Amino acid sequence: MPETRPAQGGDPPQPRAADAAAGSSGGSAGSSGGSAGSSGEVPGRAGPLARLRDAAAARDRAGLRRGLHARSPDHDGLLDLASNDYLGLSRNPGLIEGAVAAVRAWGVGATGSRLVSGTTTLHAELESTLARFCEAPGALVFSSGYLANLAVVTALAAALGSGKRAAAAGCGCGSFRGHAGTSVLVVSDEHNHASLIDACRLSRARVAVTAHGDVAAVEKALATRDEEAAIVVTDAVFSVAGDLAPLTGLHAAARAHGALLVVDEAHAFGVVGEGGRGGVHAAGLATEPDVVRTVTLSKSLAGQGGAVLGTAEVIETLIDTGRSFIFDTGLAPACTGAALAALGVLMASPWLADRTRQRACRLADIATDLGFETIRPEAAVVSVVLGAPATAVAARQLCADHGLAVACFRPPSVPEGRSCLRLAARPDLADADLETVGLALAAVRAHAPQAAAASQEGGDRP
Ligand SMILES: Cc1ncc(COP(=O)(O)O)c(C=O)c1O
Repeated sequence: MPETRPAQGGDPPQPRAADAAAGSSGGSAGSSGGSAGSSGEVPGRAGPLARLRDAAAARDRAGLRRGLHARSPDHDGLLDLASNDYLGLSRNPGLIEGAVAAVRAWGVGATGSRLVSGTTTLHAELESTLARFCEAPGALVFSSGYLANLAVVTALAAALGSGKRAAAAGCGCGSFRGHAGTSVLVVSDEHNHASLIDACRLSRARVAVTAHGDVAAVEKALATRDEEAAIVVTDAVFSVAGDLAPLTGLHAAARAHGALLVVDEAHAFGVVGEGGRGGVHAAGLATEPDVVRTVTLSKSLAGQGGAVLGTAEVIETLIDTGRSFIFDTGLAPACTGAALAALGVLMASPWLADRTRQRACRLADIATDLGFETIRPEAAVVSVVLGAPATAVAARQLCADHGLAVACFRPPSVPEGRSCLRLAARPDLADADLETVGLALAAVRAHAPQAAAASQEGGDRP
């Protein structure tokens, strides 16, 4: 079954309508009228830059232009609920000290890929600390969560699907490329993060995209497969709506049908479960050998990097064959040191996770009381559904005008008609901050009364 969901991802602020107007070629096919010009136009055929301008104009007409906004260190003086700094640790003195000390000891870079010179004793310490904290059999650090997801799905699919051939092929550097062929099925929730979707595509396994949170659909896909091996992949907490995956049911289905369950804990780690140990731990699955977790070090841990948590067999497979592990420079010492310090903070302050979830519930209450559609938050993320992309963009600007920075998500990050604002809670949100949120969302409600109504109609989320 082909994938049905487009890639997801963040949606940086500031639409650039003016750019598109200036950049549109106005149907400039063949505009050079002669031999190929310096931008590659040839007679009768639009040049590549003209095509890019036309595509940008089409995105503009659909309200889907993106732009980069260079913020100041204090988030332009706004209350920041746009970032993924879920525990408010990005400026924690302990983390800064951890990063600085690591730079002093190790320099600014890892100096090589993990298999060559890029594994330091600091990386080894981070891996053992992560595994201990999460009660996982083992951990392997990557330079991002995205790359961790790519490696997990592609390498595990290749190894599960190809058996002895994969073992002989190693990382796929030779003529045999080590892909899964058709002998592995990957079952993927339709709301999974872009990195998991890309990982599914790269695996070249057959991918069954199942309805969001639908355990019965997963079970059916597993039960009716022709492939010998299978992997079920899911976000633990879904990145935009903020809802929790049915991990217990997914694991039962995977176990019953001999599949591995891969859980991306990016938005759960640090926020969900006891002391922030994540969704898998909260579901009592931390020591199950057929559960593989990925985490990012860039959200609750406030730095950068990623990791995979799993059994020795899983970690060995990734070290031997994970292309985004092997062919990538190791995580920079500053990030490694900061992540170790962040884990120290989590262990010393187990209340941080609870407090963040409580604050998220308060944010959701504010939005619900104003008539917006939200989902009861299970983690830090609160999504306020507005409907049309232009409505969401205007709402983000209104929030900024009221002193509040929020994220704005539009297709392809969300399905059509489900553009939304995304607010991220932090444990340090004071009651005065919540008042700011209330005033900003009330302004959105007043200026876009149709938004709440639009979000009640249609849409494909529960
Ligand atoms: C669910 C999910 N998985 C993975 C990632 C990628 O993590 P990283 O930013 O560490 O590459 C993200 C980041 O936005 C995410 O939201």
